[in-house]
Amino acid sequence: MTQPDSLECIRCQQVYPLDAYDRLCAACSADGVSSNLTVAYPDAAVPDREMLTHSPHSLWRYDQFLPLAAADAVTLGEGMTPMISVDGFGHGPLRVKDESRNPTWSFKDRLATVAVSWAKSIGAPAIATSSTGNAGAAAAAYAARAGLPCVVLTYKGAAGAIVSQMRSYGAMVLTVPAMDDRWRVLSAAVAQFGWFPTSPFFGPAIGSNPIGIEGYKTLAYEIAEQSGWNPPDWCILPVCYGDALYGMWKGFDEMVRWGWIGKMPRLVAAEISGSLSAAMAGKADMPPVVSRNSKSIAGSIDVTQGTFQAHAALRQSDGIAITLADEDLVRARNKLATGSGLSVETSSAAAFAAVDTLSAHDVIRPGDDVVAILTASGLKDFGVAGIEPQGAPDVTPDLESVLRALGEHYDYNV
Ligand SMILES: Cc1ncc(COP(=O)(O)O)c(C=O)c1O
Ligand SMILES: [Zn+2]
Repeated sequence: MTQPDSLECIRCQQVYPLDAYDRLCAACSADGVSSNLTVAYPDAAVPDREMLTHSPHSLWRYDQFLPLAAADAVTLGEGMTPMISVDGFGHGPLRVKDESRNPTWSFKDRLATVAVSWAKSIGAPAIATSSTGNAGAAAAAYAARAGLPCVVLTYKGAAGAIVSQMRSYGAMVLTVPAMDDRWRVLSAAVAQFGWFPTSPFFGPAIGSNPIGIEGYKTLAYEIAEQSGWNPPDWCILPVCYGDALYGMWKGFDEMVRWGWIGKMPRLVAAEISGSLSAAMAGKADMPPVVSRNSKSIAGSIDVTQGTFQAHAALRQSDGIAITLADEDLVRARNKLATGSGLSVETSSAAAFAAVDTLSAHDVIRPGDDVVAILTASGLKDFGVAGIEPQGAPDVTPDLESVLRALGEHYDYNV
């Protein structure tokens, strides 16, 4: 594939210049729909699957389908995450794409590596992002790697561990109470100083920077390759703006068109608000705002409105949106940790709770090949999402004291 030459509207295919990520598609806005743009590449020969080499050992081995070459990448070795098997979610063995193994312990590194590489290549003076957590941490790390300043606008309730993580990379983290205010400030800085925005920065929400979203196509390439080019029946992931959902759909769609794989997996959006579920049940293009009475403990995916790009990815993959309650997430999170040795961020547990529910309703059938995306590590929200930092009882250095403590504190009697 050759270098990208333009952006185009996901909804109406109107063509825009490559630097137009700071605006909404005018035609779609006039229809009352806020649609993100996506990177367009000039038509080129169908790539040969055999051309893939195993070097470098990162998502940049797919650089012929990304906006830049591996040689120009700001990279920390992201991607190429393992696929492991877990049981216990009402379906039998389930395959898990473990994105907590990425350099900043979340899937957002896929977006950040491409976005920051692009920013560096165009000479942007700084990286800027509006983020409650993982996207900010990833932007901060890759900005540090690129030698660029990074400004993260977050909010007061952001998870403590992630804010510390952002600061550790030298990012300048500021809390701005309201989302709309964060976006207004960011828009002004983008317009006046040319800061490169990796996140959404104007509303109604459309999703993140389309250049960065290209990085999520590699999730699809990796899943297909790890499945022997025989893609799963289902791919399930927690959804906020639907950046990864759309990027994965685009990656699978490319491979179907190239003849690399025989089918598009059905994509499942595990959400908190119900906005995408309402959109899938109705006819309107734009997912509605669905208010909640209280904040979810899954802060990373706690938005009240889905995006057009997420809705489009679901419609075009015969997909499903499923709305989950905090209790579902806590149950799935604890089951994963104690039953499978996987400590996940509470938001990430949504994908597993979705498998449980969809299997119980016989939507996911026994024998279906299911891949769940584990988006981030449990270390991210310890102490925030109802997981109190857990101490350990003191014992004296003798077996009697140890056995007593095991019995009293852990109900483990030898
Ligand atoms: C852990 C985690 N999972 C899932 C998501 C959903 O991201 P998106 O739908 O925007 O790709 C986020 C977003 O912040 C996240 O932090
Ligand atoms: Zn449009």
